[in-house]
Amino acid sequence: MTDPTPDERATKIPLTLDELEEVAATCVRPAVWAYIQGGAGDERTLEWNREAYRRWVLVPRAMTGVQEIDLTTRILGVRASAPFYISPMAYHGEVHADGEPGVASAAARVGVLAAFGTLSSSSLEIIAAAQPQGPRWFQLYLQPDPVVNRSLVERAESSGYGAIIVTVDVPVLGVRDRQARAGFAIDASVPIGNGADVRPPARAPEGVAPRFRLPPGAGATWEILRELRGYTRLPLVVKGVLSSRDARKAVDAGASAIIVSNHGGRQLDGASATLDVLPEVVAEVGSSVEVYVDGGVRRGADVLLALSLGARAVGLGRPVLWALAAGGGLGVEQYLRQLAVEVATTLALCGRRSISEIDRSLCAPRRA
Ligand SMILES: Cc1cc2nc3c(=O)[nH]c(=O)nc-3n(C[C@H](O)[C@H](O)[C@H](O)COP(=O)(O)O)c2cc1C
Repeated sequence: MTDPTPDERATKIPLTLDELEEVAATCVRPAVWAYIQGGAGDERTLEWNREAYRRWVLVPRAMTGVQEIDLTTRILGVRASAPFYISPMAYHGEVHADGEPGVASAAARVGVLAAFGTLSSSSLEIIAAAQPQGPRWFQLYLQPDPVVNRSLVERAESSGYGAIIVTVDVPVLGVRDRQARAGFAIDASVPIGNGADVRPPARAPEGVAPRFRLPPGAGATWEILRELRGYTRLPLVVKGVLSSRDARKAVDAGASAIIVSNHGGRQLDGASATLDVLPEVVAEVGSSVEVYVDGGVRRGADVLLALSLGARAVGLGRPVLWALAAGGGLGVEQYLRQLAVEVATTLALCGRRSISEIDRSLCAPRRA
């Protein structure tokens, strides 16, 4: 049997987001599906991320004469064709053979910013080669050995990545019950594209009650940003902030941007929904740095609500992996294009022409 042509494959990619999720579930092993979908603990935070969007409404303006819509924006000064980006997620190779290179070239074709992580299935150099022009960031999981941090950051800089995302909400992995039940073993089963000296986060503290120890990289403080500043000129984007206090500390330590994130509910179960925290972070640091948000962004309306509450851009997580599972790199391209249409439609329905016309007057708390 021959491989399907791009056109044949493209027609198989489902059109609605619900269908995409359903189809994706059938395209990967059950353990991988649990890895993608699961949150931490009893998945309260995972659920709250979505629920938070339901507590806001969009306030449209009618008859504003909108004739053309432009989704273009700038993220850390770089042009992007939409105010959403692909969040860093590990192990794309487990989801589809196209892996990170497929996602990277899809993002480049659409002009969307994409972030790739320390735990990519392909090396950061191979990913860069698949997306030579596109805006692209590298996500760093702090390593037990500081020499490895430095080497990853220097490799990213020399491969043309535009910023380093420093993820700060993983001193140790969250309690991933769903993954554990499904038997997904991150460290044993999956090769890490960036090299054998790269370590995934520890799965649990070591020791026996009452004393436990975390691995060396886990004991980092904000000082690490000053260290990174010492050997890279790239902007540092701190991912995993859930309070104005941490946002301030990150900015004081050298962050150029903040991502309000709870890791898609995969880390601290019981932490706030990201949309709930966004306004206080924007109030604290939004006048000096860009603030982005991820977690539960699914619809065009979600994108506009987050922007209205002060986010410069929003990060997409699981839906990108659904699209990758269902249709490879082509699936991701189609999904990104579809979301762009949905955001443009929502913007038109709100009577706004462009991202720069989105402000706080676009949303209001939903009346019960
Ligand atoms: C399967 C999976 C793997 C992830 N891997 C990483 C990672 O390696 N580094 C990181 O900073 N965040 C990682 N994340 C978190 C995402 O960057 C993002 O914060 C989250 O997925 C957003 O929530 P959403 O999935 O509801 O859109 C991962 C998320 C998923 C679903």
